[in-house]
Amino acid sequence: MVKIAPSILSADFSKLGDEVREVEKAGADYIHIDVMDGMFVPNITMGPLVVEAVRPVTSLTLDVHLMIEQPERYVEAFAKAGADIISVHAEATRHLHRTVQMIKSAGVKAGIVLNPHTPVEAIRHVLSEADLVLVMTVNPGFGGQSFIKETVSKIKELNEIRAHERFHYEIEVDGGVTDETISLCTNAGADVAVAGSFVFGKADREAAIKALTDAVK
Ligand code: DX5
Ligand code: ZN
Repeated sequence: MVKIAPSILSADFSKLGDEVREVEKAGADYIHIDVMDGMFVPNITMGPLVVEAVRPVTSLTLDVHLMIEQPERYVEAFAKAGADIISVHAEATRHLHRTVQMIKSAGVKAGIVLNPHTPVEAIRHVLSEADLVLVMTVNPGFGGQSFIKETVSKIKELNEIRAHERFHYEIEVDGGVTDETISLCTNAGADVAVAGSFVFGKADREAAIKALTDAVK
């Protein structure tokens, strides 16, 4: 069964607590929180304060996706704020192995993110340490973009390496996930699907999550 991680980037921020409670009730598995700095990506969103605000509202896993330069600077702050998973972009940190260790030392699961153009080979030697690998299926920065199909072969590659090496990471996909694209990801081996506009863009969040899980049955 695929896990669904609604991205609050597409939620109504004037009532964020209610939005999070609603998707939890609707069957979400993780709450995906998109952190952007206006440098690594051309958009600015939220910081540790928002993670701290969401923490008491839900018992779901808080899946924090850092789209920021030198994410190592903020690992401790996001861990303290209540993140369960902290994912950093391979392209944004100079010493990825060290950053992954830093996340794990903070008592948080460590995720590694690949932009659409970044090959799996770039993180091959740190995969043994990863709790999660996030394959971007759009260019990071905005919700509501179209799925880039060329990224699917990387999901397959990560799945094969995992089986071969007996690694334990989950494979997550993020961007352009709909009831039409989700099966491309799960067939290739994805375990977790982030969905922003597909879930929060619809009035009936339960029906939206069901449409995603039904599409891969
Ligand atoms: C994009 C973010 C995504 C975004 C996905 O930079 O990382 O998590 O919220 O939005 P949709 O599902 O609308 O493509
Ligand atoms: Zn994201």
